[in-house]
Amino acid sequence: MLSSEQTPLSLVVLISGRGSNLQAILDAISEEGLPARVEAVISNVPDAQGLLRAKKAGIPTAVKDHRKWPQRELYDQQLIKVIDHYAPGLVVLAGFMRILTPQFVAHYSGRLINIHPSLLPAYRGLNTHARVLEAGETHHGASVHFVTAELDSGPVIHQDSVAINREETAATLQHRIHRLEHKIYPQAIRWLAEGRVELVEGKVVVDHRPTANT
Ligand code: GRF
Repeated sequence: MLSSEQTPLSLVVLISGRGSNLQAILDAISEEGLPARVEAVISNVPDAQGLLRAKKAGIPTAVKDHRKWPQRELYDQQLIKVIDHYAPGLVVLAGFMRILTPQFVAHYSGRLINIHPSLLPAYRGLNTHARVLEAGETHHGASVHFVTAELDSGPVIHQDSVAINREETAATLQHRIHRLEHKIYPQAIRWLAEGRVELVEGKVVVDHRPTANT
């Protein structure tokens, strides 16, 4: 179990860009009683907009510029050092645009989550909105999942979908999916903080019952 019901779950959030999911998590903590606390926000991009959001909220920030450690293993080791300084109960990837080493993933097994803009296992990887439209899908969505060594492949904790309109463009779809993400990410973190969701032997367990989608 990640946390008791009384103690806020301590989070470290990793970002690379805009940080709108980070903002949604911060808002859910301050406005909706999400029982979590963001201990630090770490970015691999020095001028990521999300760092300003963290500073505004009075949260410590750190930049680990990946260009300074071209070797992926060494970079991830540096990252682990910074993250572990805050001893988080959960590491939250929120638009962190890096492929993580198996060592990093194993280090945080069961307490590393990501949000991906598709209904996983469909549409792993990048440019999901355009690809979904191109394929003529009727629905698109977002998924929160535990991170495993394989990209965008870990067991799903939560997902939600929207119906695709006839006039939809990749931009409108992206906007709608972002709004969905801002709901499901804080919701999934709430379940984890309340100890309702766990990763047990590679499967998501909700309220002590395995879910169908893992
Ligand atoms: C989101 O679309 C998320 O699904 C993906 O990266 C994007 C991050 O957006 N992993 P933001 O930085 O939270 O605004």
